[in-house]
Amino acid sequence: MPNRKTAEELRSHRWLGVGDLRSFGHRSRLRQMGYDAEDWRGKPVIAIVNTWSDINQCHAHLRERAQDVKRGVFQAGGFPIELPAMSLSEPIVKPSAMLYRNFLAMETEELLRSHPVDGAVLMGGCDKTTPGLLMGAISMGIPAIFVPAGPMLRGNWRGEVLGSGSDTWKYWDEKRAGRITEEQWAEIENGIARSFGTCMVMGTASTMMAIAEALGFSLPGASSILAADSGHPRMCAASGRRIVDMVWEDLTPARFLTSASFDNAIRVHMAMGGSTNAIIHLIAMARRAGIALDMARFDAIARDIPVLANVRPSGKYLMEDFFYAGGLRGLMFELAEKLDLAAGTVTGRTLGEGLKGAQVYLRPVIHTLAEPVSKAGATAVLTGNLAPRGCVIKPSAADPRLLKHRGPVIAFEDYNHMARDIDRDDLDVTPDHILVLKNAGPKGGPGMPEWGMLPIPKKLVKAGVKDMVRISDGRMSGTSYGACILHVAPESFVGGPLALVRTGDEIEIDVAARTIHLHVSDEEMTLRRLAWTPPAPRYRRGFGAMYAEHVGQADEGCDFDFLQGTAAVPEPEIH
Ligand code: FES
Repeated sequence: MPNRKTAEELRSHRWLGVGDLRSFGHRSRLRQMGYDAEDWRGKPVIAIVNTWSDINQCHAHLRERAQDVKRGVFQAGGFPIELPAMSLSEPIVKPSAMLYRNFLAMETEELLRSHPVDGAVLMGGCDKTTPGLLMGAISMGIPAIFVPAGPMLRGNWRGEVLGSGSDTWKYWDEKRAGRITEEQWAEIENGIARSFGTCMVMGTASTMMAIAEALGFSLPGASSILAADSGHPRMCAASGRRIVDMVWEDLTPARFLTSASFDNAIRVHMAMGGSTNAIIHLIAMARRAGIALDMARFDAIARDIPVLANVRPSGKYLMEDFFYAGGLRGLMFELAEKLDLAAGTVTGRTLGEGLKGAQVYLRPVIHTLAEPVSKAGATAVLTGNLAPRGCVIKPSAADPRLLKHRGPVIAFEDYNHMARDIDRDDLDVTPDHILVLKNAGPKGGPGMPEWGMLPIPKKLVKAGVKDMVRISDGRMSGTSYGACILHVAPESFVGGPLALVRTGDEIEIDVAARTIHLHVSDEEMTLRRLAWTPPAPRYRRGFGAMYAEHVGQADEGCDFDFLQGTAAVPEPEIH
């Protein structure tokens, strides 16, 4: 048992426990809200950083779940205070929720810094909320536990199971090809999202919630519990109880996050067939924790870890099935020989201890290492003259015939150019063409929107084409699929080689060899570079302007330069 803190050592003591004029003001204002000394005296103050809002569908239950967290905090002798934070509904927030991940990270850090809190419960799950909350909490450095929102129920349409995103794209193409009616499309709109909770495929939300647990930030098994399951409020209360003890134990993120934790998280990411977005977020989180992590590490681990979770878009089932199959504990049990089971967690015990009793109940959903869903890794990192600092592809979600391919390019200068031309009847395109989208990167998007799964041109959809090679400096939704090469770094907006690609060039990719090559001579590239002019900044004021000035490239985690690293967050003066 580590040395336990005393009440006088609590951070909140500076606000509430001393006898000066300022603390009189703090206490009198708590009394104004009906609290009494019994509520706070000698007790850890626990911030519940809640990303609930009226317009975040995935977090619709978090308002009441915060009450369950409070119940747990009270049970353990703490004093909970709820602090609302930016909600970041992935499909609603424009131009891209990713533009605001760093905003949420800053907000989390500053909420915790500026308030009299000793520990934090972080409530989120919709794509960017998990990394935003964790990045801020890692930087702040006080004890913190993550409460995942949990996946929603399966979608349903006329008895057919629907998956978030994945089936949207699939049936959109069916509609474009005239194979389903407007009425059927409207029925799908009614049936694809049937409850609160996050997307229930292995999208970014499911991936990042699992990664949070694998890093040690959640109670064992928490990330797989369905949002609508009664186990979810029980997990919330248990997290509330646990954070109080974490404060007394001074169990900060720095005490359990190591490079082994991040390797574990990457292994889990690969075995889940997780979203490519996780690469960016994990690099950003690791850098906040002072741990060196680059894209090459993902590629090295991907070669060793097959996909075990048979969940869309790489597989067949949904997160509801994954939960019934044993959830993340079941998957990590199968993966145990590849994990560092001595890694620490918020429980104060090791990752391995948290797996005791874990089992897989539905073998079609969670496979063994000996008989995986796919031997092709969930992620491959390619480099070459088109992407000197790397780019990524999800081989398990691509048509295998396209993993080694050379073809002519159709280049789009930006999203609007692509949207205008992609469905033109006179577009000179074949299934062997490679579609290239520029200016979708961190600065060019801005915010690196999820435009990377470029639509298949309508004339090819009608001919039954389901996949083709697409290349961009943007991201792709974790619910998406196809031979999409993403995160090209450096991005075109800052003059990366992608900016110089023209229609008619040829590109060659070889995923097995991890290469991507633009077949244009160095001399020609030099001439094109001389003729290239940088695009005008997208934003000239506000957060957008700050973002564009400070955001890093995809291979750096897209964090702000002034937020990376482990410099101590200064404690506020109280006077
Ligand atoms: Fe929230 Fe997908 S929209 S997780």
